Formats: sequence, structure tokens, C-alpha cells
Amino acid sequence: MAVRLFWVVDRNPSKSKTWTEIEPPLDMMTYESLKNTLMTRSATWLVTGVAGFIGSNLLQTLLQLNQPVVGLDNFSTGYQKNLDDVQSLLTAEQWSRFRLVRGDLRDVEACRRACVGVDYVLHHAALGSVPRSIADPIATNESNIDGFLNILVAARDAQVKRFVYAASSSTYGDHPQLPKVEDQIGKPLSPYAVTKLVNEIYAELFSRMYGIQTIGLRYFNIFGRRQDPSGAYAAVIPQWIAAMIQGQAVYINGDGETSRDFCYIDNVIQINLLAATTENPEAVDQVYNVAVGDRTTLNALYHHLLECLAPRFPHLRGAAPIHRDFRSGDVRHSLADISKAEQRLGYRPTHRIAAGLAEAMEWYISHL
Ligand SMILES: NC(=O)c1ccc[n+]([C@@H]2O[C@H](COP(=O)([O-])OP(=O)(O)OC[C@H]3O[C@@H](n4cnc5c(N)ncnc54)[C@H](O)[C@@H]3O)[C@@H](O)[C@H]2O)c1
Repeated sequence: MAVRLFWVVDRNPSKSKTWTEIEPPLDMMTYESLKNTLMTRSATWLVTGVAGFIGSNLLQTLLQLNQPVVGLDNFSTGYQKNLDDVQSLLTAEQWSRFRLVRGDLRDVEACRRACVGVDYVLHHAALGSVPRSIADPIATNESNIDGFLNILVAARDAQVKRFVYAASSSTYGDHPQLPKVEDQIGKPLSPYAVTKLVNEIYAELFSRMYGIQTIGLRYFNIFGRRQDPSGAYAAVIPQWIAAMIQGQAVYINGDGETSRDFCYIDNVIQINLLAATTENPEAVDQVYNVAVGDRTTLNALYHHLLECLAPRFPHLRGAAPIHRDFRSGDVRHSLADISKAEQRLGYRPTHRIAAGLAEAMEWYISHL
């Protein structure tokens, strides 16, 4: 589907250069060449949070590239059905390269078991959601800070080659600047944001103190197949798609002019693989924005989803959202400058929001 510029509020000014003008340095592989290399050269990967949304997508791609993968998960917000979905897309031989450790990040011995023989860690297990952290800051702190420290120590002791971890755009907190650049952050607006900031502080300290190589990926709003549409803490895109398909009410928090830099899962998979394997010395021990560099308001998102789904679901004709109060802890606008990831990692997002939504919608329609 073509990108529809009318509902993109703002383009990141730093992206006035075209992608072809940013040639990666020679020590930086393009994603396509990296995937070709991995098909013939295997390494062992640990994906924590493997039964969750992003983790199961990383698992799928790594197994499709014939990589051995260890997964760690306690199934608190992840699902066996996500692993079953991945298995259904693979050959028996590809699936045989997967080893699951059912365990909890809060148990350092489980973390050590998961790290045995691992080259690259892609750490994604955590309790997500700003509202969840406001309701239960202790639980979020235990998984996201205590658990993070456990897996970081286990990875250090197992002498992994690199520790890539899910950071968050929530770290920008109350800093007003748009687009967000990595070295200018504000005060956290939620317990969740505190935990993600502490992750970055620990990772930076561990690389300085113990020499473990780390890369933090500050995800903006990620969406795509297998993202959980249910429950009080569901993300906006799967929640709205599911509600629309099922004929339920769609709620917009506030006036709908809140905006986000929504990023499709395939871009996330790309940057994880680039981050884990880059040989550019300037790329390691850094944090990166992971987004597209487009800002979309909630109102525009709603109308786009409605326009795409209404022809297939006649009950949606004439539907309208219900506006309610702003949600505490939410930042008003979010837009990433992704030039650091482009320049140091060779990140080239393949999906803008419209293309990602088209793929995600097909998945939800066939799975709901
Ligand atoms: N999805 C986004 O938009 C987004 C944005 C910013 C950051 N992130 C971060 O990316 C990571 C993955 O997010 P996601 O959207 O896939 O979430 P998810 O909830 O779908 O996946 C998280 C997984 O971690 C597991 N987990 C949680 N606590 C655990 C523990 N103590 N021990 C073992 N496993 C545990 C869950 O069972 C789940 O399978 C998280 O760290 C999240 O904070 C996500």
C-alpha cells in the first residue's frame, strides 16, 4: 500500500536526505547482506520475552535464518499460542533449533541457564505498559530492574558477544523537544519510564566496568502481528483493530491530537539483528531510537483504520470513537530522530505506518 501523506502530521526534518544518500560505511552490513550471511553462518541467540509480541517475532526470523535460539519466558504477559503460531510457519528442522527455558528473570539461576553457550542476547522480557506500572510499581520494578540486572550479570558471566536490550521512548519523559534525539532526555513520567532509564544506566556502567558490549533500543510505539489486543494494558493499535472488527466501542484518551511515531515490527527485527552483529566500533555501547520518523495523531490513526476496515466490516459504517479523559503518565507527542541508527547501524526502516498497518490488519482479521 502506498504511504498516504495526508495523515502524517509531521516529517522529521532530519530526514530531508534520502536513504540512498546515507551509504553505510564499509564495516556496516546492510540488512539484506546480513541475512544472507546468517543463513550460512550460525550463532546462538537468547531471546528473553520470547512468548511475547516482539520476542516471538524475533524468534520467527532467527529460526527462518537457521539460527539456534534459546528462549526465556515466564508467560506472565506472553502466550504459548504465540510460540505455536511461530512453529506453524516453520519447517520441523527450523523449529528443532529452538530451546525454551520456562523461567523468570527474577531468578538469577534461570537467567544463567538461559545464557549457557549464547553468543547474542536480545533481552525483551519485561512488564510493559505505563498504566500497569502506575497501578503496581513494585511488580514492574522487580521484572524490569531486578530482572534486568540478573540477566545482565548472567550474560556478562557467560561472556556473550553482545547484549542488546529493549529500552523505551518513555525515557524522554517530560523533555519537550521534537524530534527526540538520544542524548536529550527529561524527567520520567511513570514508574515504567524509571525502570527503562535504569536499564540504560546499568548497561552503560556494565560496559565501562566489565567490558560487556551493550546496545539499547529505545522503541517508540511498536505494532504488528501477535501484539496482544486484549486486557486493560493493550497497546492502542491492536486494541482498536480488535474492537472495530468485533463491533465494540473505541475509546480515545483525550482530544485525539496526542501523537506517536508508530513503528512496524519488521523494522524492529531489522535493528535487533544489525545491533547484535555490527562490527562498527562506534555503534556499540550506545542507545538508539527505533521508529520511523513520522508522527501520527490518534484521530488520524482512528480514521485510517476505519477507512481500511469499513469496506470489509459493514457494521463500521458511520462509526465514531468515544473520547474520554487523558491518561496519566502519557507523553503528549512523540517523534523520533532516527539518524543515529541510520548512520551507525545502517538501519533502514522498510515499513512506514500505512504499510505496516496493512500487514498487521490482515493478520488480525485472519486470527481474531
Ligand atoms: N511494544 C512496544 O511498543 C514497546 C515499546 C517500548 C518498549 N518495549 C519493550 O519491548 C519489550 C517487549 O515488549 P512486548 O511489546 O513484546 O511485550 P510483551 O508483554 O508482549 O512481551 C514481554 C514478554 O516478557 C515476558 N516476561 C515478563 N516478565 C518476565 C519475567 N519476570 N521473567 C520472564 N519473562 C517475563 C512476558 O511473559 C512476555 O512474554 C519489553 O521490554 C517492553 O518494555 C515495547
